[in-house]
Amino acid sequence: MDSIRFTMSNNIDFSEIFNDSYDFVLRNEELFFSTFYEIFVSSSPQVKAAFKHTNMAKQNEMVRESFGFIICFFVTKIADEQLVKLAIDHKDKFHVDSELYAVFVNSVLAALEKIYPKYNNECAVAWRITMAPGIEFMKHIYDVE
Ligand code: HEM
Repeated sequence: MDSIRFTMSNNIDFSEIFNDSYDFVLRNEELFFSTFYEIFVSSSPQVKAAFKHTNMAKQNEMVRESFGFIICFFVTKIADEQLVKLAIDHKDKFHVDSELYAVFVNSVLAALEKIYPKYNNECAVAWRITMAPGIEFMKHIYDVE
């Protein structure tokens, strides 16, 4: 129980836990993105194959944009045409199976664990909660006719 951060009312404040760790990530962006990408690509042969023809500049762009999108979508829940197209492209153009989104999330957490000294299970849960809306959108928007 010692590791759980209680607020005055004994609640766990996942916004605070996320914000603290995200501040750290923003101060160590290059390290975080490169660690994530390395873990993500080596986590599954399917992911490796998907990025076979992607150059380094494009990889960096994808990782940066995807985090920007995930955080923004958590706050606004607004998807413009470009975002809907992005989700459709992942399915139809990049051939991303929906189960690879779990690999994506787990790779984010593994990267965070590697670089963030205060990483613990609540921190992992805070990131899962924050990433969930964007991940669900990407996985399911193309289910809708
Ligand atoms: C919420 C999760 C994700 C977000 C927000 C995201 C976002 C993006 C963005 C912004 C791009 C650039 C699009 C463009 O240039 O048109 C991209 C490209 C790509 N993404 Fe994702 N992505 C996510 C998850 C994944 C997953 C799980 C895979 C699995 C392999 C994946 C594979 C790819 C591939 C193969 C490309 C194309 C790279 C290229 O141009 O060669 N993405 N993604």
